[in-house]
Amino acid sequence: MSGLFISFEGNDGAGKSTQAELLKKHLSEEGFSCCLFREPGGTDISEKIREIILDNANYKMKHLTEAYLYAAARCQLVREKIMPALKGGQIVICDRFLDSSLVYQGIGRGLGTDIVKDINKYAVGSLKPDLTFFLHLDPAEAINRHKDERELDRMENQKAYFHNRVYRGFLDIAHGESERIVTVEANRPLKVISAEIARIIDSFINGRGLQNEQLKRFFGQ
Ligand code: TYD
Repeated sequence: MSGLFISFEGNDGAGKSTQAELLKKHLSEEGFSCCLFREPGGTDISEKIREIILDNANYKMKHLTEAYLYAAARCQLVREKIMPALKGGQIVICDRFLDSSLVYQGIGRGLGTDIVKDINKYAVGSLKPDLTFFLHLDPAEAINRHKDERELDRMENQKAYFHNRVYRGFLDIAHGESERIVTVEANRPLKVISAEIARIIDSFINGRGLQNEQLKRFFGQ
């Protein structure tokens, strides 16, 4: 596998999507071939699964059903988009990936991370992000960011204690996998955060022994 796989994680409203877009812009300006996907979603089929998962009408959904649906959406995205892009040498940025399932379903819903890993085993295989940015923001502040903009979806509408468990789950996995997961303080101006992320990614790429020019050639540009 020749490309680079980067994911963004964090509580709802922590600002991942904006930062993922800004990182894509930064890398594209540096001349890298780059694609951005969101989870759940990123393919026609996965977007349809997303609608089912987030629909407030589906309040009867069992936790295990929810975990399988996230894994199904991920399975399609990995095979249809992520693997081909990585094989083609592109930089893939994913707005959430498996860590979200481990934290939201495994810890938030209480299914346990082992069960969630099992469910995702065939969906994801050995694929793992090379680098993950965890946008760290107090969960109460994060969810409040969305409140006045639009109607909250089924996951965002979960009680505060669920979002607190999710938050603590992210802290735990970020602590446990500190070589992959970089914690970024999200309670700062957008530009300050994006500049920090750009600095980290640039040094990560250079640290792999590939200068940008070499990497561009390596990516066939
Ligand atoms: P997302 O679109 O990232 O929402 P937001 O922009 O508000 O952060 O994700 C949709 C919701 O799905 C979000 O509440 C997190 C949740 N989620 C899981 O519970 N498990 C998962 O595996 C993924 C990918 C997302």
